[in-house]
Formats: sequence, C-alpha cells, structure tokens
Amino acid sequence: MCGIVGCTGSAPVKDVLISGLKRLEYRGYDSAGIAVQKPAGPGGAPAPDLVVVHRVGKVAGLESELEHQSIPGTCGIGHTRWATHGRPSTANAHPHTSCAGDIAVVHNGIIENFAELREELIARGHHFTSETDTEVLPHLIEEAYEGAPDGTGAEEATHDLLRAVRRAMRRVVGAYGIAVTCAQEPGVIVTTRKDSPIVVGRGADASYLASDLIALIDATRDVVILEDGECARLTPDGITYYDAAGKAMEPRITHVDWDLDMAEKGGYPDFMIKEIMEQPRVVRDTLAGRMVGGELTIDELGLTPEELNLIDRVYVIACGTSYHAGLIAKNLIERWARIPTEVEAASEFRYRNPIITPSTLVVAVSQSGETADTLAAIRDARIKGAKVFGITNVIGSPVARESDGVIYTKANKEIAVASTKSFIGQVVSLSLLALSLAQAKGRMTTGEVRMLFREMGDTAEQIQWIFDTQEPAIEEAAAAMKDAHSALFVGRGIASAICYEGALKLKEISYLHAEAYAAGEMKHGPIALIDPGFPVITVATQSPVYDKTISNLKECEARGAKIIAVATEGDEDIKQIADHVIYVPRVRDCFTPITATVPLQLLARSVALLRGCDVDQPRNLAKSVTVE
Ligand code: G6P
Repeated sequence: MCGIVGCTGSAPVKDVLISGLKRLEYRGYDSAGIAVQKPAGPGGAPAPDLVVVHRVGKVAGLESELEHQSIPGTCGIGHTRWATHGRPSTANAHPHTSCAGDIAVVHNGIIENFAELREELIARGHHFTSETDTEVLPHLIEEAYEGAPDGTGAEEATHDLLRAVRRAMRRVVGAYGIAVTCAQEPGVIVTTRKDSPIVVGRGADASYLASDLIALIDATRDVVILEDGECARLTPDGITYYDAAGKAMEPRITHVDWDLDMAEKGGYPDFMIKEIMEQPRVVRDTLAGRMVGGELTIDELGLTPEELNLIDRVYVIACGTSYHAGLIAKNLIERWARIPTEVEAASEFRYRNPIITPSTLVVAVSQSGETADTLAAIRDARIKGAKVFGITNVIGSPVARESDGVIYTKANKEIAVASTKSFIGQVVSLSLLALSLAQAKGRMTTGEVRMLFREMGDTAEQIQWIFDTQEPAIEEAAAAMKDAHSALFVGRGIASAICYEGALKLKEISYLHAEAYAAGEMKHGPIALIDPGFPVITVATQSPVYDKTISNLKECEARGAKIIAVATEGDEDIKQIADHVIYVPRVRDCFTPITATVPLQLLARSVALLRGCDVDQPRNLAKSVTVE
C-alpha cells in the first residue's frame, strides 16, 4: 500500500527520496513519484517552482527517468501509490499539485468526502488532472494559502503552509497521512495524519519524515510517531511539532534500537507475527470507503444491481488458505443472499464440467493473483460464459486482469509463506460481496446492511483485544500440544471453516499433522484416533450450534482427549470440558471467522516456534504457486 517519504536539508534530496521509496517497496505499489523544490535563485531569491516527476511502475523506473535530469533541490517529498481511487496510471501517481503547480501533496489513506469536495472545487474554478481522492488536497490547501474564497467564509490568506494545511484538513473526512511542500516556502515540508502513520526524525544535517520507520532508520534512530491531528513542520535546521489544537509541543522521542532486518519486520521477530498483528488495520482498510452516504459501495464489481440480481448460482474457486475463505463466503452468500454457492479447489474445478450459465458468478480468490490453477479455472469459466469476479491482494495481477471485476484486499504485501492477514482481508472482502448480493436480491434492507457493516468494522478492535489479553492462554495451549504427533480441529457451522484454516496453519508451519472435521462427523471415523492426551482443538463460540458442539466435545473428552477451546469471552461453562480455553470477544456468528481465526494463527505459530520451526519459510512450500 502507499508509502510516503520526505526530506529537507542542505544537500540534494533526490537520491534520499529514491532510497526511502525503495525501502517502502515491500508494501506493494503500482506507481511512484517525487516533488522537489527548485533551489533558490540568484541572490537567494526564492524560485517558486517545483519539479514533479511521477510515473506508473516501479521505483527503479522512476530512478532511471530521474538519472537524466538535473534536480539539485534540497527539499522534497516522495510516494509509492497503491491504487484505491483511480486506476494505476501516471496521471494518478502522486505527488499531486495545486492549480498554480506550487503546492505538492503526497497522501496515504482514503478521503471519504472527496467527491463532494472535488465538485465544490471544480465549481470554484479548480482544474483536476487525476481521478484520485488525493487531488482535492493541494487545491484545498491552495485556497487556504492564497485566501481564495472557499465557501467557508475563512477567506483571508494564510501565506503560511502549516496554517493552510491545518485549515484545509478540517474539511476532510477520512484517513490520511500527508506530506506537503510549497514552492513559496523554501525548505519547508508540513506533515500531519489521521488513522495513517507518519514518523518524523532529525538526522545529522537534515529533517526527515516517512510513513514507515524503515525508510528513516539510515538517517536517525530517534523518531517521533505523530498522533492523530498532530502536525510537524520540517526545515533544514530542525522540526517543530504541533498538537491537534495547533499549539507548539515538545516532541515525544522514541529511540529505535532496531537493525534493518528488525525494522523490515516492524520490530517483531518474524514476518508471520508482524502480519498477524496487522490484521486490525487490514479490517479497517478493507472496509474504508465502502459505505458512502449510508450506501454500500463496491464500484469495482463491474456489475449493475440488476445484473447482480440475475445471478442464480455462485462458484467460489481458490486454493489453500484462499479456499478456506471461500468456505466462509459460501456460508454468508447462502445465509444472506440465498444464492446456491459451491466452493471448489481450483485444481478440481478446471478439470470437470461444472454447470455454468450466463447467470453464474464465479468468484476467484487468490492472495497472489497468480496461482496457476486459479487462473486456469478463471479462463475456463469465462469461456463457458460465466461472469468472473476476482478477490486478490496484488494490483494488476493476472487474476485482477482476467476477471470482469475485482476487489483488492487491503492486506499489503504478505511475506510469510503461510497466509494470515490476506485471509482476513479475503474474508472481509467476501463478506462485502455477500452483502452486495443480498442487497441486490432484496434479501436485506439498507438498514440491515449498515448494521452488519458497522459490526464488521468493530472486529478490528475485537482482534486487538485478543492480542492484548489472550497471549498467556495461547502460549499455555501451545506448550500442551507441542509434542503431539497429530491434532484434530473440530467445529460446526461457520466454525468448521475456521477449523480447516486452523489445521492448515498448524500443519504448514509446525509440521504437526492436523486435520479438521465438522464436529458432527467425529463419530463417523476420526474419533477412532483419540486416545488419552490427543489434542482436539475446537472453535466453540456462541452460535445456534453451540450445544451441539459441546455434545461432540464430550464424546472426545470421554476418550481422554486434551481439549483446547476457542470460546466466547464470559463462557465459564466451557472450562468444565476444555483443558485450555482461549477467549474471543462476543460477535455475531457470521463474523466469528474474522475474530476466531486469529487465536488459531497465533497457536500454530507458538507451536511451530516451540518445535524449532522457521515460521516464515516452511519447508516445501512456496508463497505463490505458478505451476499446476
Ligand atoms: C500457496 C501458499 C498458500 C496459499 C495458496 C493459494 O500454497 O503457500 O499460503 O494459500 O498458495 O495462494 P493464492 O495466492 O492463490 O491465494
């Protein structure tokens, strides 16, 4: 996802910006750009101009384009863009500039009221050159800076970039981390944030900012992590910080003692835990901008509500973890939209003759967007006349290109081979798709959709609660099962899909054999495996089938199984049957996959570490499987 860098000092800044952007490449992006102030003219007179170079493609491409240009400026900002509003293109790449071209902005996040702001700004004569939400910012700042009438009555010019930024951002609803530079103010960069990180730091002879610490650690280990609403004004000589009310404040300096490897892992010991911990953000980002004016909005669906209404059969095709997200989608699409849905491993789907008509929707789910079997299945489905909808994490990936519509999960690049945050992004995206189908089919009122959307958003904090409170319980459960040879995961209803994913995670990274079963199937075979001490892991959260699950667990308990239960906070009764309990907050049954999968990811990782395994790169597995 997007990355921001900025630097102002006494030496040319171009290479500093490029190397900062390279450090942010791991986040995934589709275009990149920089804006650098032209150095002062003869006699120190300001040269009120900016050099802005932005292009679609990799930072290396931007770097070669810049090689042939002399850019001696010592103050500039840079950006890697991960498209949200507007396709990946050179015009949509940041920085974006004001009409006069003297104010440049880079932005991470989503401006929810951009359509309304853009309309207003156009009506007042502003000229737009991109399809992005970001472009409203330089124009809003320009009005505040120049004192142009902006409809708010605050017409006097600020001629002060910091004040202009603060005034402009009051109009903005949404999430942002921004850096702004203005040709009239040599050497000055202003930055501020809301719900999107900005880190600021002072190096030996320059001031720096970035959206991620990793882009700063070559320059300084003493950084200030801005809080929502706070601003910083960077100059070549120092940095001034302002609180949300605009008062100058003492910076809260954090000393970072990380090497590069640790910084890439966000200070965590491995990528897997870093990515697990990112999941609250993934929920928020995947939902951001989807409820516009009280209406669920998925523009990328590529189908009108009428076309959605005609769909009478859904196939979800995927592999591995993505297949498990598909199992959850089946439950939700059938529950909410009442459309018959099948989930199939892409490797199977492509070799049989599924019943496909023009009213069939095929949903292809793939983190990498390049899994060979999933791609082949998409091609086959399209030849047979189905509409194909992709859910992927990688912009411009083959799955995205070959589908009629696509939802991008907002997980950012996932590095650990075993998928975690991508799964959560997929489940949230598929839930949005299920809600859209339910709405189009008239199965759900707008009010119901809004309520479920709000509750889905609440899971971000609920996941955080699991991180904050359940670590000891998870560690204890992991220690209890680390020496087992095999484990069973059992659940009923939507919880059975969570168990499939939990078992996959455990076997992938700890090499402990694990299987998942619908709990009702236990006595038809798997129960034969149970002897004293055999680990049975269950998701037994509050749901209409809770009592049934408990009955199945009793059958396991009677044979001496060691039961590890993921249960709803406050469920004390479960302790009578379970040896170890990991709690998750109470959520509506349909959202359990977003919360209850998280402790199973953590459990798998803890078991793997106790067994001395490499959790990021398990043996024999590849992150993306591009062969059949
Ligand atoms: C590989 C990875 C899994 C992933 C699966 C599907 O097997 O190791 O983590 O779930 O591919 O990948 P996709 O990119 O299509 O979601």
